[in-house]
Amino acid sequence: MATPCNVVVLISGSGSNLQALIDRIADDAIPARIGAVISNRAEAYGLKRAQQAGIDTLVLDHKAFDGREAFDAALIRAIDEREADLVVLAGFMRILTPAFVRHFSGRLLNIHPSLLPKHKGLHTHQRALDAGDREHGCSVHFVTEELDGGPSVVQAVIPVHPDDTPESLAQRVHVQEHFIYPLAVRWFAEGRLRLGALGAELDGQPLPASGQSIRH
Ligand code: GAR
Repeated sequence: MATPCNVVVLISGSGSNLQALIDRIADDAIPARIGAVISNRAEAYGLKRAQQAGIDTLVLDHKAFDGREAFDAALIRAIDEREADLVVLAGFMRILTPAFVRHFSGRLLNIHPSLLPKHKGLHTHQRALDAGDREHGCSVHFVTEELDGGPSVVQAVIPVHPDDTPESLAQRVHVQEHFIYPLAVRWFAEGRLRLGALGAELDGQPLPASGQSIRH
């Protein structure tokens, strides 16, 4: 059997996307292993999830470093020591330096709680409501130097209901995140997904700008 794709997951908080990935790998649905979980916050609950699953964890507190470049350099070293084939940002709430993004180009995925290119940055559910969006959702994308701007791999689209609140939207979007992120990791681990010169490609075919769309 081929060597499983070695994934390093970066988190800052609850780690529910990490948990979804742990569960899908345990179900044997993804030919991958999570080699390590790295958090920039010691109190991130996702670290407990990783430990419960027997996964190696590391805390690199960004506040202990003299600037963004120094932190990212340490992060690159930590990930390289663990020989990652794929780096998965799962609620990692740090802006990464161009040097970091270039180092992991083509093997760095992020999940964002909006239908990119809409609502980059924070407070996406409130902003979707404020904009009167009829649809909302989440996107998995390759990370490039533009914040929340890299080529999309897959998006889950849900309808916005008239009585939705940021909380109700967040809850329904989260359910979708837990489905599409493991799916994208599976495609990558199976060697089906890559970042080509013009954007994300699945099975050798370019994906649409918004990625594969899953509608509900
Ligand atoms: C997720 O909703 C993810 O989309 C978001 O943080 C949350 C982490 O939840 N990421 C971003 O906003 C990145 N810009 P989790 O810790 O439970 O996986």
